Amino acid sequence: MKSKASAPGKIILFGEHFVVYGITAILCAINKRITVTTEKTSDNKISINSSVGNLVSSPKKPINEIDIQLRPFYYLADKMIQKYDNKSGMKITVDSEIPLGVGLGSSSACCVAGAASISGIFAKNSKEEILQMAIEAEKTIFPNTSGADCTVCTFGGLIKYDKQNGHSKIDSEPNFHLVIANSKMEHSTKEVVSNVKEFKEKNEEKFSDICNEETGLIDDVLICLKNNDLKGIGRDMIKNQEYLETIGVSNEKLRDMIELATKTSWGAKLTGAGGGGCIFALTDENNMEKTIQQLKKNNYECFSTKIDFTGLDTL
Ligand code: MEV
Repeated sequence: MKSKASAPGKIILFGEHFVVYGITAILCAINKRITVTTEKTSDNKISINSSVGNLVSSPKKPINEIDIQLRPFYYLADKMIQKYDNKSGMKITVDSEIPLGVGLGSSSACCVAGAASISGIFAKNSKEEILQMAIEAEKTIFPNTSGADCTVCTFGGLIKYDKQNGHSKIDSEPNFHLVIANSKMEHSTKEVVSNVKEFKEKNEEKFSDICNEETGLIDDVLICLKNNDLKGIGRDMIKNQEYLETIGVSNEKLRDMIELATKTSWGAKLTGAGGGGCIFALTDENNMEKTIQQLKKNNYECFSTKIDFTGLDTL
């Protein structure tokens, strides 16, 4: 018996970090996917094969004994084995088109595709139920996750998300391309999120002012998205990048990439936690190639993506 599911990566268009403090973020799924295949076995072992590591282990182990990258899969497999059939085992295989650990939602795509594929061995669950399992699994890596990343990987398209009201779909289907460039600098989301917390605690008033600015900016972005106003979205990206600079999540390399990409695109900013990872530039068909060449000429690895409107796909 096999159960297979795939989920897209994502980028945060606007609002990373501020979303942790209740501000609305805007995210979109991208057309690069992670596929998880689960097979039921009779050996009462959880076996995981992925490009971030391999594992063969008995169920019921304390989660902190498991390698951090593999925890969500182990957590989900263990939970399903305990719930449905404590004599069975599972073989889980992970295939990824998404560069890992660079802010493109690889871990949330793993959690969403993992939750659907692993639970799918025993039961058919709704997307909402899978999302809840995926967020639980993601907490084994990021205990304070806002849940925003898993939400967009599950539903696809463009969403707005805030902690109090959850997610809602943005119906606009703006016609843009996103050029994503990888800084190849390692970063830890947990560490960067904790640095921002420290910044906030030391600069309460400043942080609160930036949160208010960000709220106004998000209102404007929603109007621009409705009107397919790429110039307006690009202008707001540049503004959002300034706020991210202020809270200390950018760095010299990211700034260089953003400056280069802004020359030929509508706007550019970092995406995700920052401190490394990726930036993206907003382009249309006319300036996409120029933006790619501009970054490549300066030895930055980049690729173009479009919005994925499918989200979680059970295969
Ligand atoms: C990380 O992809 C996004 C952050 O806003 C953290 C979170 O929302 O959990 C930095």
